[in-house]
Amino acid sequence: MTRPLTILGIESSCDDTAAAVVTRDSSGQVRIASSVVIGQTGLHSAYGGVVPEIAARAHAERVDICVKQALTQANTALSDMDAIAVTAGPGLIGGVVSGVMCAKGIAAGAGLPLIGVNHLAGHALTPRLTDNVAYPYLMLLVSGGHCQFLIARSATNFIRLGGTIDDAPGEAFDKTARILGLPQPGGPSVEQAASTGDAKRFALPRPLLDKPGCDMSFSGLKTAMLRARDGIVAEKGGLGRQDRADLCAGFQTAVADVLAGKSRRAMALYLGMTPAIPTFAVAGGVAANTAIRAVLETVCRENGVAFTAPPLALCTDNAAMIAYAGLERFDAGLSDDMTLSARPRWPLDSSATPMLGSGKKGAKA
Ligand code: KG4
Ligand code: ZN
Repeated sequence: MTRPLTILGIESSCDDTAAAVVTRDSSGQVRIASSVVIGQTGLHSAYGGVVPEIAARAHAERVDICVKQALTQANTALSDMDAIAVTAGPGLIGGVVSGVMCAKGIAAGAGLPLIGVNHLAGHALTPRLTDNVAYPYLMLLVSGGHCQFLIARSATNFIRLGGTIDDAPGEAFDKTARILGLPQPGGPSVEQAASTGDAKRFALPRPLLDKPGCDMSFSGLKTAMLRARDGIVAEKGGLGRQDRADLCAGFQTAVADVLAGKSRRAMALYLGMTPAIPTFAVAGGVAANTAIRAVLETVCRENGVAFTAPPLALCTDNAAMIAYAGLERFDAGLSDDMTLSARPRWPLDSSATPMLGSGKKGAKA
């Protein structure tokens, strides 16, 4: 029996230190042999966002521990690896440097090829890791740090159709929870409150929805939520349970409307490429939202496009996606040398207009 192709992946671009081993056997079957994620939520919770210096230090302290755990859990050793794949950007630079330096050390010490991976490519290729989705497919990355539409044409060729020009929707969910006194992370608590709310009570904006193109904006919606809350507080002296529920329902519906409307536009562009097996994949923490998922599935049904969403543990930051993206680069004969550098910004589609700003959870690139 031939030995499976085996890749070690390392991820440290935001607030999760992660390492994983991914294999592909001679029949083409891809398997996640291990995936270790050490989160840092507790280290940052007092600050209302990820503190880059704290994150970098924690990554530097934990990345080798993660690698060791990933090798142990996969019951394998460095001598079994065919290559080391590492996130080389975009992200918080101190964290990315920690991962890249660790990967370089391992690659040099073990005499293995080093493969720098774009973190967004890791997310964007996850539907191939989990469901073997065929190129080209349409992808919506929607989380606390990302929000963009991509057409994945190959492991190295992505077309960015549009994305948020300010905040990511997850950030807006988190902010909404904060201003309404609901627990963090905001997505699940806002979703729960929304389940008993009246979405029509408050007239909230759908920013950029009527504008052509696939760009989105969520910061105005955040401000509108703040005004709506202040209006109730001024009128009644505080927020009741139903007020919170109605505000959350209104907010969630507004986000869902924007994502659905822009997905329709993105899908029209994608279908213009006459893909053999039209598929729309959604990934990122916000994809866990049942109402948002439902509207996206409806848009797919209307357009005869298959819908897929990787399991949540593979939608959020992890190293299995980096190992898999490395595997596809390895297949393409791509590797890096010791000059590989960490990049805070690294757009997947170099021909697209650069994004402005940086999300709470790192650069949007
Ligand atoms: O992908 P993720 O774990 O991390 C990054 O942002 O990279 O996404 C986390 C984001 C948070 O902002 C969280 O509030 C949001 O995803 N989220 C949700 C839900 N679950 C998590 N947003 C809406 N509805 C949910 N059920
Ligand atoms: Zn990410």
